[in-house]
Amino acid sequence: MFSRVVVAGGSGFLGTSVTKELAKRGIPYVSVSRRDGVDFMNLEDTTEILREHECDALINCAAFIGGLEFVRQHVAEVLFANSIMSLNLMEAARRVGVKAFMNTLANCSYPARARELKEDEWWDGPLHESVLAYGSTKKTRWVQSWAYHQQFGFNTINLLLPNMYGPHDYFDVVRSHALGALIRKFVEAHEHDEPTVEVWGDGSPIREWLYVEDAAEVCVHALELSPGIEPINIGIGRGISIRDLAELVQRIVGYQGSIVYDQSKPNGAPSKIMNVERMRERLGWSPRTDFKDGIRATVEWYRQHRTKILGAETVEENSQPYPSILSGHE
Ligand SMILES: NC(=O)c1ccc[n+]([C@@H]2O[C@H](COP(=O)([O-])OP(=O)(O)OC[C@H]3O[C@@H](n4cnc5c(N)ncnc54)[C@H](OP(=O)(O)O)[C@@H]3O)[C@@H](O)[C@H]2O)c1
Repeated sequence: MFSRVVVAGGSGFLGTSVTKELAKRGIPYVSVSRRDGVDFMNLEDTTEILREHECDALINCAAFIGGLEFVRQHVAEVLFANSIMSLNLMEAARRVGVKAFMNTLANCSYPARARELKEDEWWDGPLHESVLAYGSTKKTRWVQSWAYHQQFGFNTINLLLPNMYGPHDYFDVVRSHALGALIRKFVEAHEHDEPTVEVWGDGSPIREWLYVEDAAEVCVHALELSPGIEPINIGIGRGISIRDLAELVQRIVGYQGSIVYDQSKPNGAPSKIMNVERMRERLGWSPRTDFKDGIRATVEWYRQHRTKILGAETVEENSQPYPSILSGHE
């Protein structure tokens, strides 16, 4: 259907699985990111690279992001980098005549008070301060989709993704999300015979997790289907408490010690679950990976690649701060 799909940020966590999915389906693609020498912060360079690759579709997996602590420490950079990259990528794609543009949005852009996340309520309230900067860039991405559709008839697809997990995730101290961090902690504690593993909060919050290969599958599927610009929730439609999740990871890793809940740390919202009716209706798609199988595959991948991805033997050695992307700030 497409002559070539550009995967912007194809070297990242989601991008890696998206490129595999495209290869599996025999769709020609090219992965483009910083390590290929292009900086999406620069509009002319971004336009040039898209023109060079003669693409007619684009999946935007580019991001400057990490877990909550990473976002707290880099909040201005998160706002700046993600806003500019997104604006540039869509404008560059429009200039070169891309026919379908996939926007990967995130469910942190839902209002802080929302419990069951429904697309029609996406705009119904302020975001939680911890995700205000990043979540706002996702809202802006959608507004850009709408504006480009109004003025240019530009075709975008907007998927709202929940937390993801799987191979190629971040597991390091600085950039990992909750599940990557949990896996790293249990694997380390198991290997070093540590008596306890500490988990933040009281373990009660319920969160939803999507296997990254399922997310990649729906990105490619939705790109081909082009269901219109309205945001569509992607997910499994049910969650698991942090306590049950920690115990599951503990069993899969084979860790014998105990879990200590640090109740001085905040819990966040009690529950965040995607309503996935629109996904089933408009995409006719559902995720296929069993949660336990997905966690097993992720633990296995982490064990095999740990030294390489952490670039160090221990977590302590891998806690170096991330260099600032804004000049004049160390
Ligand atoms: N991870 C999750 O759980 C999650 C959940 C919901 C939604 N999402 C969404 O999914 C998308 C992908 O997230 P991810 O977790 O896969 O991100 P990621 O692993 O951090 O990957 C980001 C990608 O962007 C590239 N990149 C960053 N800055 C760039 C720049 N200035 N110029 C060119 N390339 C640049 C990186 O390239 P280099 O490696 O070459 O620097 C990398 O390929 C994002 O839109 C995110 O909001 C993710």
